[in-house]
Amino acid sequence: MVETTAARQPPAAENGWLIEVRSLTKVYGEGPAAVHALRGVGLRVHAGEFVAIMGPSGSGKSTFMHLLGCLDHPTSGSYRLAGEEVSRLSRDRLAVVRNTRIGFVFQSFNLLSRTSALENVELPMLYAGVQRDERVRRARAILDQVGLGDRLTHRPSELSGGQQQRVAIGRALANGAPLLMADEPTGNLDSASSADIMALFRRLNRERGITVVLVTHDVQVAAWSNRVVTFRDGLITDDRPVDEVIPASARPGAGAPEEVRA
Ligand SMILES: Nc1ncnc2c1ncn2[C@@H]1O[C@H](COP(=O)(O)OP(=O)(O)OP(=O)(O)O)[C@@H](O)[C@H]1O
Ligand SMILES: [Mg+2]
Repeated sequence: MVETTAARQPPAAENGWLIEVRSLTKVYGEGPAAVHALRGVGLRVHAGEFVAIMGPSGSGKSTFMHLLGCLDHPTSGSYRLAGEEVSRLSRDRLAVVRNTRIGFVFQSFNLLSRTSALENVELPMLYAGVQRDERVRRARAILDQVGLGDRLTHRPSELSGGQQQRVAIGRALANGAPLLMADEPTGNLDSASSADIMALFRRLNRERGITVVLVTHDVQVAAWSNRVVTFRDGLITDDRPVDEVIPASARPGAGAPEEVRA
């Protein structure tokens, strides 16, 4: 793949994988204080998959998400995103990849507090140089899609936790990224709001083909995915279709009330 390939036109992954990770390691610190957070992780994800990452505290899930989200560099190993090796890109190039191909959703929403829902969703487009009229038009449409068409001018403090997370998902979608990543997106939400947010992720996955990779401790949250990947001590120890991990009776069915609410 030639180095000049523009980030806005990612090379098609020759082998069909959107995410292709091999032998990924991450060591924090040095010498006796070194923490081997990832010890050789391999994972391949097709475009259109909906993957839940589970595992005990400290097993490396967030570290892995930071690498997948192009927020950090691995210590060693390979990460190809849509066919492009991104593991050794400069910080600036990595930021371009992140801003154009990946939407990231955090547990704590990370919205600008004095800024309206509309402006929060506009922000990535502002950085990308989209003209104001177009920004407003797209941000309105996105907020409509996430069910907040009647909350455009509300600030985060005037929204419920679930609504704030919808704004954050809207912001993650603003630049048209085909890949949504989330680290404990329902960690600060009650179970009803969690189900709403998961139904929204599922709708974006099914109707818009957006690939979703999210970390959760909660089996009921993982139940919305199609595939469950389990980490332990910096390694993937299990990787199976969701119906082999979570019984069908415990999974939200198509047309469940939550889905209608989303
Ligand atoms: N910035 C850092 N500096 C040093 N060590 C770190 C850093 N971030 C994480 N670690 C260590 O790396 C290991 C993996 O941490 P990580 O945050 O990836 O775990 P996790 O699976 O996300 O856990 P949790 O479920 O509690 O969020 C832990 O031992 C942690 O203490
Ligand atoms: Mg974590």
